Amino acid sequence: MILLIIIGSDHTGIKLKKAIIDYLYKEHIDYADVSSEQNAVDDDYPDIARAVSLKVLQNTNNLGIVICGTGIGVSIACNKLRGIRAALCTDEYMAEFSRKHNNANVLCLGSRLKIAEDEEEMKNIVQAFIHNFYEGGRHDRRLSKIRDIENMNIEGR
Ligand code: RB5
Repeated sequence: MILLIIIGSDHTGIKLKKAIIDYLYKEHIDYADVSSEQNAVDDDYPDIARAVSLKVLQNTNNLGIVICGTGIGVSIACNKLRGIRAALCTDEYMAEFSRKHNNANVLCLGSRLKIAEDEEEMKNIVQAFIHNFYEGGRHDRRLSKIRDIENMNIEGR
């Protein structure tokens, strides 16, 4: 069960973020918006990625959605935090399997991608992310290997 969706975008994703919030509202899904439009032009995507990720880590039932121009910057930044599995998804299939196999807890979206011109398609990606669930089983072993990597020291041991 999802407790809360934490959402944020840098200045490139304000319109897309609004469309996703409209969708969440209509679906009666609780959300918290961590980005503001006031300082939008000067904002930096790592700050938004960090704010979303820290709130996601507060509860295992939280999920995050974070937007920058390509989705790449936020995915790099989010994945620096131990316990975050951020997935940059450009179609529904990726969103579905990021949840089922990778237990992704943050969805990264690119607002400047061609696909982002189609808000319906972007909502479908969000929907696939929210309504699919981790399958466990053989994937537990793989995720535990990711945790091992997170715990390696700077010499790579
Ligand atoms: C901002 O201009 C842009 O660099 C940012 O939104 C993102 O695409 C970075 O990966």
